[in-house]
Amino acid sequence: MYTSFFTKFVALMAIASGVAGQGLPANCDRTMTVQAGNTCDDISAAYNVSTYQLASVNNATVDAGCDNLYVGEVLCLGITGQDCTTTHVIQSGDTCSSVSTAADISINLLLQNNPNVNTICTNLYPGEVLCTGNQTYVNVTYSK
Ligand SMILES: *[C@@H]1O[C@H](CO)[C@@H](O)[C@H](O)[C@H]1NC(C)=O
Ligand SMILES: *[C@@H]1O[C@H](CO)[C@@H](O)[C@H](O)[C@H]1NC(C)=O
Ligand SMILES: *[C@@H]1O[C@H](CO)[C@@H](O)[C@H](O)[C@H]1NC(C)=O
Ligand SMILES: *[C@@H]1O[C@H](CO)[C@@H](O)[C@H](O)[C@H]1NC(C)=O
Repeated sequence: MYTSFFTKFVALMAIASGVAGQGLPANCDRTMTVQAGNTCDDISAAYNVSTYQLASVNNATVDAGCDNLYVGEVLCLGITGQDCTTTHVIQSGDTCSSVSTAADISINLLLQNNPNVNTICTNLYPGEVLCTGNQTYVNVTYSK
C-alpha cells in the first residue's frame, strides 16, 4: 500500500517537473534555447527582451556576469503579465533622453522598467537592451 502510493507519487513528481521543464520559473510565457556563441545581450536583442528582464527571470540559473550559459540550455524570456516585448538596443551616443523620446515614454518609466540603469543614466553601453514599453512591467526598486 505505502510502496504503491510512493511509486505513484514519484511518478507524478517526475511528470510535474517534466511539465515545468528544466527549472524554468512559473508562468514563463516564452523561451529560447541557447546556441553556441550566444551572449545574454545578443539573446536579448534577438528576442526583444531587456537585459534586465533576461537576467532577472533567469537569476536562479544564469550568473550575474552571464558567463555560465551552455548550448541547449532553455532560458525563460518573460513572465506572463510582466513581459516587456518592446525594446531598444543601445547604440553608441544613445541617452535615456533620446531613447525615451524615440519611444514616446517618460524617462521615469524607462528607469522604472530598467532598474539596471542608474538614475543619472551614465551606465548605458552599446548592445544593452532596454524595455521601452509604455506600461509598468517592473515594480521593484533597487538602489542604483
Ligand atoms: C522585435 O521587435 C521588432 C521591432 O518591433 C520586430 O520587427 C521583430 O519582429 C521582433 N522580433 C521578435 C523575435 O519578436
Ligand atoms: C531572483 O529574483 C527574485 C525576484 O526579483 C528574487 O526574489 C530572488 O531572490 C532572486 N534569486 C536569486 C538567486 O538571486
Ligand atoms: C503611452 O501612454 C501615455 C499615457 O497613456 C500616452 O499619452 C502615450 O501616447 C503612449 N505612448 C505610446 C507610444 O503609446
Ligand atoms: C505594477 O504596479 C502598477 C501600478 O500599481 C500596476 O498597474 C501593474 O500591474 C504592476 N505591474 C506588475 C508587473 O506587477
